[in-house]
Amino acid sequence: MRKKVIAGNWKMNKLPNETISFFEEFAPLVKDTKNEVVICAPYTDLFYAILSAQNTNIKIGAQNMHWEENGAYTGEVSPQMLKSIGVEYVVLGHSERRQYFAETDETVNKKVKAAHNVGLKPIVCVGESLEQRESGKAKEIVTNQVKLGLKDLTNDQITSTIVAYEPIWAIGTGKTATKEDANETIKWIREELVNMYGKENADKVIIQYGGSVKSGNAKELFEMSDIDGGLVGGASLKPDEFAKIVNAV
Ligand code: PGA
Repeated sequence: MRKKVIAGNWKMNKLPNETISFFEEFAPLVKDTKNEVVICAPYTDLFYAILSAQNTNIKIGAQNMHWEENGAYTGEVSPQMLKSIGVEYVVLGHSERRQYFAETDETVNKKVKAAHNVGLKPIVCVGESLEQRESGKAKEIVTNQVKLGLKDLTNDQITSTIVAYEPIWAIGTGKTATKEDANETIKWIREELVNMYGKENADKVIIQYGGSVKSGNAKELFEMSDIDGGLVGGASLKPDEFAKIVNAV
Protein backbone atom coordinates (compact mmCIF):
# COMPACT_ATOMS: atom_id res chain seq x y z
CA MET A 1 0.00 0.00 0.00
CA ARG A 2 1.32 3.38 -0.99
CA LYS A 3 1.06 6.13 1.60
CA LYS A 4 -0.99 9.23 0.83
CA VAL A 5 1.13 12.37 0.75
CA ILE A 6 -0.73 15.65 1.07
CA ALA A 7 1.50 18.62 0.33
CA GLY A 8 0.67 22.31 0.51
CA ASN A 9 2.33 24.55 -2.05
CA TRP A 10 2.21 28.06 -0.63
CA LYS A 11 3.76 29.60 -3.77
CA MET A 12 4.81 33.25 -3.17
CA ASN A 13 2.65 33.75 -0.09
CA LYS A 14 3.10 34.32 3.67
CA LEU A 15 5.61 36.23 5.76
CA PRO A 16 7.47 34.65 8.68
CA ASN A 17 4.96 35.83 11.31
CA GLU A 18 2.11 34.40 9.20
CA THR A 19 4.04 31.15 8.88
CA ILE A 20 4.39 30.86 12.64
CA SER A 21 0.70 31.51 13.27
CA PHE A 22 -0.29 29.07 10.51
CA PHE A 23 1.60 26.25 12.25
CA GLU A 24 0.16 27.11 15.67
CA GLU A 25 -3.33 26.61 14.30
CA PHE A 26 -2.64 23.84 11.77
CA ALA A 27 -0.40 21.41 13.68
CA PRO A 28 -2.99 20.34 16.33
CA LEU A 29 -5.60 19.80 13.60
CA VAL A 30 -3.54 17.19 11.71
CA LYS A 31 -1.68 15.49 14.55
CA ASP A 32 -3.64 12.22 14.27
CA THR A 33 -3.44 11.68 10.51
CA LYS A 34 -1.67 8.65 9.05
CA ASN A 35 -1.01 10.63 5.84
CA GLU A 36 2.31 12.32 5.22
CA VAL A 37 1.80 16.08 5.58
CA VAL A 38 4.17 18.50 3.88
CA ILE A 39 4.23 22.29 3.70
CA CYS A 40 6.26 23.74 0.82
CA ALA A 41 7.06 27.28 1.87
CA PRO A 42 8.96 30.17 0.24
CA TYR A 43 12.69 30.30 1.03
CA THR A 44 12.33 33.17 3.49
CA ASP A 45 9.78 31.18 5.53
CA LEU A 46 11.56 27.83 5.52
CA PHE A 47 13.56 28.28 8.70
CA TYR A 48 10.51 29.52 10.61
CA ALA A 49 8.47 26.63 9.23
CA ILE A 50 11.10 24.11 10.32
CA LEU A 51 11.23 25.52 13.84
CA SER A 52 7.42 25.64 14.01
CA ALA A 53 7.13 22.04 12.79
CA GLN A 54 9.49 20.63 15.43
CA ASN A 55 7.75 17.94 17.51
CA THR A 56 4.92 17.67 14.98
CA ASN A 57 4.21 15.20 12.15
CA ILE A 58 4.56 17.95 9.52
CA LYS A 59 7.45 17.87 7.05
CA ILE A 60 8.85 20.90 5.26
CA GLY A 61 9.55 21.34 1.57
CA ALA A 62 10.95 24.06 -0.70
CA GLN A 63 9.44 25.04 -4.05
CA ASN A 64 12.55 25.06 -6.25
CA MET A 65 16.35 24.86 -6.10
CA HIS A 66 19.41 24.91 -8.37
CA TRP A 67 21.08 21.66 -9.41
CA GLU A 68 24.65 22.75 -8.61
CA GLU A 69 26.15 22.32 -5.13
CA ASN A 70 27.52 25.88 -4.98
CA GLY A 71 29.16 28.50 -7.15
CA ALA A 72 28.57 31.71 -9.08
CA TYR A 73 24.79 31.49 -9.51
CA THR A 74 23.53 34.77 -8.10
CA GLY A 75 20.12 34.46 -6.54
CA GLU A 76 20.01 30.67 -6.52
CA VAL A 77 19.72 28.21 -3.62
CA SER A 78 21.47 24.83 -3.62
CA PRO A 79 20.16 21.41 -2.59
CA GLN A 80 22.70 21.30 0.24
CA MET A 81 21.52 24.66 1.58
CA LEU A 82 17.98 23.32 1.85
CA LYS A 83 19.09 20.05 3.38
CA SER A 84 21.31 21.80 5.95
CA ILE A 85 18.39 23.59 7.59
CA GLY A 86 16.17 20.50 7.74
CA VAL A 87 14.13 20.71 4.53
CA GLU A 88 13.02 17.22 3.40
CA TYR A 89 11.07 17.80 0.18
CA VAL A 90 11.40 20.04 -2.86
CA VAL A 91 8.83 20.79 -5.57
CA LEU A 92 10.48 20.64 -9.02
CA GLY A 93 9.17 21.50 -12.46
CA HIS A 94 5.96 23.20 -11.33
CA SER A 95 4.09 24.50 -14.38
CA GLU A 96 4.50 28.09 -13.12
CA ARG A 97 8.27 27.60 -13.17
CA ARG A 98 8.11 26.00 -16.61
CA GLN A 99 5.94 28.88 -17.88
CA TYR A 100 7.55 31.94 -16.23
CA PHE A 101 11.12 30.83 -15.46
CA ALA A 102 12.09 28.69 -18.44
CA GLU A 103 12.21 25.41 -16.53
CA THR A 104 12.53 22.49 -18.95
CA ASP A 105 12.41 18.71 -18.67
CA GLU A 106 16.21 18.76 -18.95
CA THR A 107 16.69 21.14 -15.99
CA VAL A 108 14.05 19.23 -14.04
CA ASN A 109 16.03 16.03 -14.58
CA LYS A 110 19.26 17.66 -13.35
CA LYS A 111 17.44 18.97 -10.28
CA VAL A 112 15.80 15.61 -9.50
CA LYS A 113 19.22 13.93 -9.47
CA ALA A 114 20.76 16.76 -7.43
CA ALA A 115 17.94 16.53 -4.87
CA HIS A 116 18.46 12.78 -4.44
CA ASN A 117 22.21 13.27 -4.12
CA VAL A 118 21.66 15.13 -0.84
CA GLY A 119 18.65 13.08 0.30
CA LEU A 120 15.89 15.57 -0.53
CA LYS A 121 12.66 14.02 -1.85
CA PRO A 122 11.57 15.69 -5.09
CA ILE A 123 7.90 16.31 -5.89
CA VAL A 124 8.04 16.49 -9.69
CA CYS A 125 5.13 18.23 -11.41
CA VAL A 126 3.84 17.25 -14.84
CA GLY A 127 0.67 18.23 -16.65
CA GLU A 128 -0.88 19.33 -19.91
CA SER A 129 -2.52 22.60 -21.01
CA LEU A 130 -6.21 22.85 -21.88
CA GLU A 131 -5.40 23.03 -25.58
CA GLN A 132 -3.29 19.88 -25.32
CA ARG A 133 -6.05 18.06 -23.43
CA GLU A 134 -8.72 19.12 -25.93
CA SER A 135 -6.64 18.07 -28.92
CA GLY A 136 -6.12 14.61 -27.43
CA LYS A 137 -2.43 15.15 -26.68
CA ALA A 138 -2.54 14.88 -22.88
CA LYS A 139 -1.12 11.37 -22.73
CA GLU A 140 1.76 12.15 -25.07
CA ILE A 141 2.66 15.39 -23.25
CA VAL A 142 2.50 13.98 -19.75
CA THR A 143 4.33 10.72 -20.49
CA ASN A 144 7.03 12.66 -22.32
CA GLN A 145 7.55 14.91 -19.30
CA VAL A 146 7.94 11.77 -17.19
CA LYS A 147 10.30 10.15 -19.68
CA LEU A 148 12.64 13.16 -19.83
CA GLY A 149 12.27 14.58 -16.34
CA LEU A 150 12.72 11.27 -14.54
CA LYS A 151 15.29 9.54 -16.73
CA ASP A 152 18.44 7.77 -15.55
CA LEU A 153 17.56 7.43 -11.88
CA THR A 154 18.52 4.49 -9.69
CA ASN A 155 15.80 2.24 -8.28
CA ASP A 156 16.18 3.87 -4.86
CA GLN A 157 15.89 7.32 -6.43
CA ILE A 158 12.77 6.62 -8.49
CA THR A 159 10.95 4.95 -5.61
CA SER A 160 11.58 7.97 -3.37
CA THR A 161 10.44 10.44 -6.03
CA ILE A 162 6.90 11.82 -5.86
CA VAL A 163 5.14 12.77 -9.09
CA ALA A 164 2.38 15.39 -9.02
CA TYR A 165 -0.02 15.30 -11.94
CA GLU A 166 -1.26 18.87 -12.27
CA PRO A 167 -3.28 19.72 -15.38
CA ILE A 168 -2.33 23.35 -16.04
CA TRP A 169 -5.93 24.35 -16.75
CA ALA A 170 -6.96 23.21 -13.26
CA ILE A 171 -4.34 25.20 -11.32
CA GLY A 172 -5.80 28.14 -9.44
CA THR A 173 -8.84 28.20 -11.73
CA GLY A 174 -11.39 26.45 -9.54
CA LYS A 175 -11.74 23.83 -12.30
CA THR A 176 -10.77 20.37 -11.16
CA ALA A 177 -10.10 17.40 -13.40
CA THR A 178 -12.83 14.82 -12.92
CA LYS A 179 -11.71 12.11 -10.55
CA GLU A 180 -11.92 9.62 -13.43
CA ASP A 181 -9.74 11.75 -15.76
CA ALA A 182 -7.20 12.40 -13.00
CA ASN A 183 -7.06 8.70 -12.16
CA GLU A 184 -6.69 7.70 -15.80
CA THR A 185 -3.87 10.17 -16.42
CA ILE A 186 -2.08 8.98 -13.31
CA LYS A 187 -2.36 5.43 -14.67
CA TRP A 188 -0.67 6.60 -17.88
CA ILE A 189 2.13 8.08 -15.78
CA ARG A 190 2.55 4.83 -13.88
CA GLU A 191 2.57 2.83 -17.15
CA GLU A 192 5.43 5.01 -18.36
CA LEU A 193 7.26 4.40 -15.08
CA VAL A 194 6.75 0.66 -15.61
CA ASN A 195 8.38 0.99 -19.05
CA MET A 196 11.28 2.90 -17.55
CA TYR A 197 11.89 1.15 -14.24
CA GLY A 198 9.80 -2.05 -14.14
CA LYS A 199 6.55 -2.80 -12.35
CA GLU A 200 7.97 -3.41 -8.90
CA ASN A 201 9.59 0.04 -8.75
CA ALA A 202 6.75 1.83 -10.55
CA ASP A 203 4.20 0.48 -8.09
CA LYS A 204 6.07 2.16 -5.23
CA VAL A 205 6.05 5.67 -6.71
CA ILE A 206 3.62 8.05 -5.06
CA ILE A 207 1.63 10.01 -7.67
CA GLN A 208 -0.43 12.96 -6.45
CA TYR A 209 -3.14 14.97 -8.14
CA GLY A 210 -2.99 18.78 -8.02
CA GLY A 211 -5.21 21.56 -9.37
CA SER A 212 -7.97 23.25 -7.35
CA VAL A 213 -8.06 20.56 -4.64
CA LYS A 214 -10.23 21.76 -1.78
CA SER A 215 -12.02 20.28 1.23
CA GLY A 216 -15.13 19.72 -0.90
CA ASN A 217 -13.44 17.48 -3.49
CA ALA A 218 -10.40 16.02 -1.67
CA LYS A 219 -12.08 12.85 -0.43
CA GLU A 220 -13.46 11.73 -3.79
CA LEU A 221 -10.13 12.41 -5.51
CA PHE A 222 -7.93 10.78 -2.86
CA GLU A 223 -10.14 7.68 -2.73
CA MET A 224 -9.45 6.85 -6.38
CA SER A 225 -7.32 3.74 -6.94
CA ASP A 226 -4.26 5.52 -8.34
CA ILE A 227 -4.34 8.95 -6.67
CA ASP A 228 -1.90 8.92 -3.77
CA GLY A 229 -2.75 12.29 -2.26
CA GLY A 230 -2.49 15.83 -3.51
CA LEU A 231 -0.42 18.92 -4.13
CA VAL A 232 -2.58 21.79 -2.92
CA GLY A 233 -2.03 25.47 -3.73
CA GLY A 234 -4.61 28.07 -2.71
CA ALA A 235 -6.46 25.84 -0.24
CA SER A 236 -3.25 25.13 1.70
CA LEU A 237 -2.96 28.75 2.86
CA LYS A 238 -5.79 28.42 5.39
CA PRO A 239 -5.06 26.12 8.33
CA ASP A 240 -8.63 24.87 8.83
CA GLU A 241 -9.26 24.29 5.12
CA PHE A 242 -5.94 22.52 4.57
CA ALA A 243 -6.49 20.38 7.69
CA LYS A 244 -9.85 19.25 6.28
CA ILE A 245 -8.06 18.19 3.08
CA VAL A 246 -5.38 16.30 5.03
CA ASN A 247 -8.06 14.59 7.12
CA ALA A 248 -10.36 13.84 4.17
CA VAL A 249 -8.99 10.29 3.96
P1 PGA B 1 -4.18 25.22 -6.73
O1 PGA B 1 -2.63 25.03 -7.08
O2 PGA B 1 -4.52 24.17 -5.70
O3 PGA B 1 -4.28 26.61 -6.21
O4 PGA B 1 -4.94 25.00 -8.00
C1 PGA B 1 -2.05 23.76 -7.16
C2 PGA B 1 -0.59 23.89 -7.49
O5 PGA B 1 -0.22 24.74 -8.33
O6 PGA B 1 0.26 23.14 -6.96
